[in-house]
Amino acid sequence: MTFNYSDRMNGLDGSATREIFKLLSRPEIISFAGGLPANEYLPVKEVNEILDEILSGGFAAKSLQYGSTEGFPALREILTDYVKHVGINDAKVENTLVISGGQQGIDLTLKAFINKGDAVLVENPTYLAFLQIAKTYEAKVYGVKAESYGLNIEDLEAKIKAHKPKVLYCVPTFSNPTGKTYSAENRRKIAEITAKYGVMVLEDDPYGKLRFSGEPVPSLKSFDKAGNVIYITSFSKILSPGMRTGVAVGNKEVIRKLTICKQGTDLHTANLSQLIAQKYLEKGYLFPNIEKSLPLYRTRRDCMLAALDKYMPKEFTHTVPDGGLFIWGEFDADVVTKDILPEAIERDVAYIQGNEFYAVPQEGNRFIRLNFSNESPERIDKGVKALAELYKEKISQAKSKK
Ligand SMILES: Cc1ncc(COP(=O)(O)O)c(C=O)c1O
Repeated sequence: MTFNYSDRMNGLDGSATREIFKLLSRPEIISFAGGLPANEYLPVKEVNEILDEILSGGFAAKSLQYGSTEGFPALREILTDYVKHVGINDAKVENTLVISGGQQGIDLTLKAFINKGDAVLVENPTYLAFLQIAKTYEAKVYGVKAESYGLNIEDLEAKIKAHKPKVLYCVPTFSNPTGKTYSAENRRKIAEITAKYGVMVLEDDPYGKLRFSGEPVPSLKSFDKAGNVIYITSFSKILSPGMRTGVAVGNKEVIRKLTICKQGTDLHTANLSQLIAQKYLEKGYLFPNIEKSLPLYRTRRDCMLAALDKYMPKEFTHTVPDGGLFIWGEFDADVVTKDILPEAIERDVAYIQGNEFYAVPQEGNRFIRLNFSNESPERIDKGVKALAELYKEKISQAKSKK
């Protein structure tokens, strides 16, 4: 039988990353492909203690019952305080919505704002799943030129004038895929210019707390005077991705619309996850545990940077992130990283090809995203070495064909 799918499914064939993930169960594969927090720092002991308290105390029924779409009031109250860490000082409970991870924040925002054919702007390159979600809402996605300090403001304004976008999506701190952070000045200008033209900004911040070096920068939302910035952050990288919890902070009316969208999606974020997050924050476990994890991430980042500098061909350059989970690499050579990936996997190394992160995929041909958080230093060294040998071969083959 032929199944009669909706038009929005046309051209959607599942993210290539998901396909790669299927191969990663082979233990010999050294994976630089994911974006997972380190297993060692998932707080099993603390969550166990909290679960015990929830299920044997007065919260048992509450945790297993239905709840309100907005999330538990006590958790939302705590979250208004939590976002003060990124300079959002005036959020009230009604400005918050508990979400099932940052991914849901993206989905709800596009659901609330995008009609078929509406324009959306992203940084070039951007988070691959954003592009996927935008496709399901049949948005037209345009990339804004990126600079080392953030978005190119002239290009942003030109693209706003040309395409009249409804939404600008960006990951200003330790971006996925580049690891880059926008300067405070760049954030201020983005807030100003989008307010001037009435563009909603979706600021996605899953990595901001994972800083290994440099000084924290206030959120883009903290420069928002017009109420046009939605800030989303998630506990996936600093507590547990499996719990699916995060928060959206924005203008009260906008949050109300996102709440209506969420009702249709999942009614509410799982109460058990919300209660675990609430108690984890109340007990003060979050920040000490993040602190404990940082040396491990820093070591792995440094190890990958050292291996890249040691083994990679001279045609390769890369970012040096102050935090987050990714290094972004570029080959100044005639290679298509997507085509080379199957051979890399045969040699037991995985990465994500650059195409996945571009609105116009070919623009990412020569790029790769490398994740350093989930492999040991020994395996990082071994994996980068194998990757470097493969790319050296490919580059010399490409040169000899010319
Ligand atoms: C930029 C960005 N946004 C959102 C997500 C989704 O994360 P979650 O839904 O687990 O919060 C990720 C995950 O890797 C990400 O890198």
